[in-house]
Amino acid sequence: MLPIAVFVSGSGSNLQSIIDKMEQGALHVDIRLVLSNKPDAYGLERARKHGLPTVILPHGDYPDRNAYDEALLREVDQAQADVIALAGFMRILGPTFVSSRRNHIVNIHPAILPSFKGIHGQQDAADYGVTLSGATVHLVDEKMDHGPIIIQAAVPAYPDDDGDSLGKRILALEHRIYPQALQWIATDRLKIEGRKTRIEQSEIPQAAMTTPCLVNPPLEEGF
Ligand code: GRF
Repeated sequence: MLPIAVFVSGSGSNLQSIIDKMEQGALHVDIRLVLSNKPDAYGLERARKHGLPTVILPHGDYPDRNAYDEALLREVDQAQADVIALAGFMRILGPTFVSSRRNHIVNIHPAILPSFKGIHGQQDAADYGVTLSGATVHLVDEKMDHGPIIIQAAVPAYPDDDGDSLGKRILALEHRIYPQALQWIATDRLKIEGRKTRIEQSEIPQAAMTTPCLVNPPLEEGF
């Protein structure tokens, strides 16, 4: 079992999807710590319901980012977590943290990176008028929403979508791809080659008429 820490700030539905897959036996991780910078994050409640250890570390209690990063690192070390999964953690990790855990920090972002970085990914995509959006699980580096991509999933976006309606569609996929990405890490199948990652023992589909694709609006008869 891969020992992990999950960092949350809010609802924690991604944390829940990790817990569920873990309890089903599909995801081979051991959640050693659920940490929140917000005392009222519902994610903490979810963790407690499943008997997982929780820590609250309000960022306002620390003089600067560096001091906060060091406090976070102490918690991760104490929990002996090998990988940190950011699941709606609304703080940017500084270089102190990132460099000491390089390639061991994973994040999920509600857009197809590198489009629509930042905290309003769903709203920005809806406002822009894209017809496809989605979610990205990636490794964390020093730049926001930037590190090597592990998996992406696309959903259709419709003209009447707003951030909420598109966000719900995206979130449903987040709950599938995040546990999958963590399982690849847990079983040591994720190989990192610069900006690219490779999943070992994974079939690349033959590029033919059967190439899986999502087209929105759908192609009509004859195209
Ligand atoms: C998700 O949309 C995730 O992609 C983003 O923050 C949201 C967290 O949702 N980083 P939840 O707390 O997991 O429900």
